[in-house]
Amino acid sequence: MPLLKKTVSDFRQWRKEVDGPLAIVPTMGALHDGHVALIKLGRQLGKKLAVWIFVNPLQFGPKEDFGSYPRTFDQDVEICSKAGVDAIFCPSVHEIYPHGENECATVVPPPELAAVLEGAFRPAFFTGVATVVTKFFNIMSPDIAMFGEKDYQQLLVVRHLVFDLNLPISIQAVPTVRAQDGLALSSRNAYLNAVQRGAAPLLYNTLKTVESQIRAGQPVEEALQQGRATISTSGQFELQYLEARDSISFAPHDQAQNKLVLLVAAKLEGVRLIDNVIMRD
Ligand code: PAJ
Repeated sequence: MPLLKKTVSDFRQWRKEVDGPLAIVPTMGALHDGHVALIKLGRQLGKKLAVWIFVNPLQFGPKEDFGSYPRTFDQDVEICSKAGVDAIFCPSVHEIYPHGENECATVVPPPELAAVLEGAFRPAFFTGVATVVTKFFNIMSPDIAMFGEKDYQQLLVVRHLVFDLNLPISIQAVPTVRAQDGLALSSRNAYLNAVQRGAAPLLYNTLKTVESQIRAGQPVEEALQQGRATISTSGQFELQYLEARDSISFAPHDQAQNKLVLLVAAKLEGVRLIDNVIMRD
């Protein structure tokens, strides 16, 4: 069984006793096999492994799902236990934001990265993520932290944070874990009913089609336009964006480039889904 640490001082006490590299897996709970892939890599890289479970109010907009976000703590502890996690850091909102989350100094990531795509649709999101990640890094003092490529823009924001603020932490990226039909695993998939779940793989299928068209030589913007049309005309999705970016600088593409990431966000009858495909060589 992992040790449960609920306060900053309890976690820090445990941290002092860890000799050798500490790996951590940041999560908001409702753990699934995507999170388990991060835990498995963390197990290999660290001497000890801690998972953080904290639904961070600061990264949710006023009309978003903070209140209804799935909370499955007992099941999460079970999953962590089976995966060999040493400690779970699971503080209350009050422990992390004693004066309220609106009275907290914040960390603002660079707008070229954080105000576009996800940031354009969720304006407070990346400040919320950068702030909570900085706070938990300071509390937990990890040597290594695992992040999923599923949230590709978040991964780049965290990499920037660590580089720009000289944090002595190695960020490890883990490929997206998918269901057999291609749907990226996500805690929010729990919101989908059976019919919606059947429709959801369209996003990944469209990304793969756009990828193969670009690889076959079709101009990037033309392939994206066709992909946008596929999603919009399906009738079930409200498309927010389907874009190609440089997978390292996140600059908008001008013409066909080698290292593109294709990113999509759409609402499936109110349930917001995101996904991406990295065009590796
Ligand atoms: P959460 O959505 O719980 O995701 C935690 C980590 O798991 C993230 O790094 C995410 O990219 C990764 N992940 C989620 N689904 C995945 C999948 N199908 N395959 C691989 N990795 C996957 O992301 C957050 O929480 C929060 O924003 C957080 C970083 C914890 C800050 O609050």
